[in-house]
Amino acid sequence: MQNQKTPNNPLTQTTQKMKWNKKKVQIFPFLVILLLVFITFSTFHNGSIIGQIHENPNHIHHQQASSASYVKPNLKKSQEVLDRHCRCNSTRGYSGRKIARDGGSKSYGRWRVSSEKCDVFSGKWVFDNASYPLYNESDCPYMSDQLACHKHGRNDLGYQHWRWQPHDCNLKRWNVKEMWEKLRGKRLMFVGDSLNRGQWISMVCLLQSEIPADRRSMSPNAHLTIFRAEDYNATIEFLWAPLLVESNSDDPVNHRLDERIIRPDSVLKHASLWEHADILVFNTYLWWRQGPVKLLWSDDENGACEELDGQGAMELAMGAWADWVSSKVDPLKKRVFFVTMSPTHLWSREWKRGSEGNCYSEKDPIDFEGYWGSGSDLPTMSTVENILSSLNSKVSVLNVTQLSEYRKDGHPSIFRKFWEPLRPEQLSNPPSYSDCIHWCLPGVPDTWNELLFHLL
Ligand SMILES: *[C@@H]1O[C@H](CO)[C@@H](O)[C@H](O)[C@H]1NC(C)=O
Ligand SMILES: *[C@@H]1O[C@H](CO)[C@@H](O)[C@H](O)[C@H]1NC(C)=O
Ligand SMILES: *[C@@H]1O[C@H](CO)[C@@H](O)[C@H](O)[C@H]1NC(C)=O
Ligand SMILES: *[C@@H]1O[C@H](CO)[C@@H](O)[C@H](O)[C@H]1NC(C)=O
Ligand SMILES: *[C@@H]1O[C@H](CO)[C@@H](O)[C@H](O)[C@H]1NC(C)=O
Repeated sequence: MQNQKTPNNPLTQTTQKMKWNKKKVQIFPFLVILLLVFITFSTFHNGSIIGQIHENPNHIHHQQASSASYVKPNLKKSQEVLDRHCRCNSTRGYSGRKIARDGGSKSYGRWRVSSEKCDVFSGKWVFDNASYPLYNESDCPYMSDQLACHKHGRNDLGYQHWRWQPHDCNLKRWNVKEMWEKLRGKRLMFVGDSLNRGQWISMVCLLQSEIPADRRSMSPNAHLTIFRAEDYNATIEFLWAPLLVESNSDDPVNHRLDERIIRPDSVLKHASLWEHADILVFNTYLWWRQGPVKLLWSDDENGACEELDGQGAMELAMGAWADWVSSKVDPLKKRVFFVTMSPTHLWSREWKRGSEGNCYSEKDPIDFEGYWGSGSDLPTMSTVENILSSLNSKVSVLNVTQLSEYRKDGHPSIFRKFWEPLRPEQLSNPPSYSDCIHWCLPGVPDTWNELLFHLL
């Protein structure tokens, strides 16, 4: 629906369209790409796993929902961990049960009193090779091979030089020392999937150069991975929890994709790790894009699952997360952010009519204001918006979707480490194995972090 490059005459367009319609079916299926993603999700380094349940011996009572079709999230009772070997003993259709949320949100509202009249998420990308990138790829010892595009052969470096310019104001100028001062004595924790992990690596790379090598450390890759800066007594952490609630995909190295099982009513295991953070940055999106998902409710003793589509399951999971936020977060003590969906660029026809590729070989951002592609699901956005608005003062939204939508040039495509050997037929057709989901660093996630800095 949006094409900014339309020099074609209508006739060619029609032919191209028809040609396209014929080819549609065989264009590399979304599934293959997602699968690729999941494979790559699963391989950071080999790390140990520290996803144990933290028992809470004080309260072992599970509140019953007042109505049969509403379930109060389980915040107390520890139970068997869902691991990747877990299977459903049986599967039936979705019962319709929903998450009963803690509605009694006290009115704090200090953080939200927004002195900010400007919508920093509405703006445009400006080429600025004088100030960007904010760090060099090769100077960051914590860079991931999945995101180091220059190292893996990308020679057009334009993607590193773009600055986000809001329409009605300027972003606070990024300042490493000032950011460290904000983090002094604090734990900043990113919680989510590999997109969120990319933002975490970006943050570490943005900040690490300030700390002498012997005054900083990185723990081995695990369920919770911690970058520590001694002099500031501060940490920047990443917690792998791609579905937010407990699931059989919570192992940061070996995930399950074929049968995803979640506990729709429990964030207990993850929350025991994230509850101590001072600043929390959550995301979740891509893992729900491919349904269905199996639900194993906490009160189910027999391993009997229900099955629900991804969108519905995400709504339940976010409900359980929101219940935790509204019952546990004191906004005077904790800042909570939610990062909206990170767009994918899997279909170049969406920005260039008649083309049949994806983000591969894209070198410039889209300059069509308001461009929105199929990689950003609108129903998901309204689910997120509804849930966040019910949490009003407690969560700030990092609405990165629109600004990232413009950045079809920002993905690694073929310029990253692939963990599986590439087959000849893939190599001869680069778009077929391009990663159009994650983001090169330095790049787009640095801007997400500048926005975080701006709002902090
Ligand atoms: C920045 O970009 C301009 C225009 O493309 C180019 O002329 C200039 O040499 C670049 N400067 C640097 C420092 O790369
Ligand atoms: C990146 O490296 C180049 C050349 O080595 C240097 O001129 C530039 O200042 C570095 N940029 C940053 C942000 O460190
Ligand atoms: C370091 O920060 C932690 C909180 O993250 C705090 O509990 C501890 O007291 C701090 N230590 C020092 C020496 O300031
Ligand atoms: C499935 O059934 C077996 C045998 O009845 C039981 O031991 C197991 O715990 C059940 N699985 C789950 C996930 O509850
Ligand atoms: C994010 O911004 C888009 C516009 O770019 C808007 O449609 C959407 O509702 C916003 N989402 C949230 C959760 O605020």
